Amino acid sequence: MKTIFITGANKGIGFEMARKLALLGHRVVLGGRSKDRLEAARKRLLEKNIDVDYIEMDVNVPGSITHASEVFLSIFGELDVLINNAAVLLDQDKQLSLDPSDVFDQTFRTNVLGPLLVARAFIPLLNRPGRIINISSQGGSMTDSVGGWSPAYCASKTALNGITRQLAHELSSKQISVNAVHPGWVRTDMGGPSAARDVEKGAETPVWLAVTADQAKTGSFFMDKKEIPW
Ligand SMILES: NC(=O)c1ccc[n+]([C@@H]2O[C@H](COP(=O)([O-])OP(=O)(O)OC[C@H]3O[C@@H](n4cnc5c(N)ncnc54)[C@H](OP(=O)(O)O)[C@@H]3O)[C@@H](O)[C@H]2O)c1
Repeated sequence: MKTIFITGANKGIGFEMARKLALLGHRVVLGGRSKDRLEAARKRLLEKNIDVDYIEMDVNVPGSITHASEVFLSIFGELDVLINNAAVLLDQDKQLSLDPSDVFDQTFRTNVLGPLLVARAFIPLLNRPGRIINISSQGGSMTDSVGGWSPAYCASKTALNGITRQLAHELSSKQISVNAVHPGWVRTDMGGPSAARDVEKGAETPVWLAVTADQAKTGSFFMDKKEIPW
């Protein structure tokens, strides 16, 4: 049984990963910024006889991350897998060259600085071997052509991919693997109702990376359990 912490797990792909991993018998801790939404998520799983824990953590607030890591340590004592899933895609994210609001700052705070600070705070808790999985997006790809949609979001995932590779390099001697995943275009609040995939399919590869994939594989970008180009 592994202990697994998933950020932004009160809904969407994070919630589905939690459901799948708990069903497989792992101890799953949901992270989220709202106690009410976390409690509601826990109840939804309990109704299906799936028990999970949760910890409040806003990935935009460094103090909240530090506090959550301390609470996590005192309650659970250890961690095997950290899944950095929380992210935002803001409606106003239309152009990098014209950004009168702080869309870029907000996006990078949540999608880039957040996962890095969470990783820093939770690495000391990670068992060896341990795993970090960053939920990224093909929108951040440096090999695909630029589609022009949500540029701050796409650039934030490019940055997250860069962080994934750097952390993988730094942590390879500590037996901690660090990988990124593109879940596909998934029907969630973020992906919208027209998306091609359901959450079950979206959660499949991160769940595989969390508990089944070769631990030695690190510094890679995955989709559908296969490596894809950065
Ligand atoms: N859906 C897609 O098509 C798609 C495609 C490629 C990649 N992804 C990636 O997959 C991951 C999950 O996306 P999703 O589609 O499941 O999105 P979602 O349904 O919008 O869920 C996002 C989760 O992140 C949480 N979150 C946002 N800001 C946070 C913060 N500051 N602190 C803590 N939690 C925060 C949300 O919590 P609240 O409920 O409190 O807002 C929610 O639980 C994201 O990394 C996303 O970029 C999604």
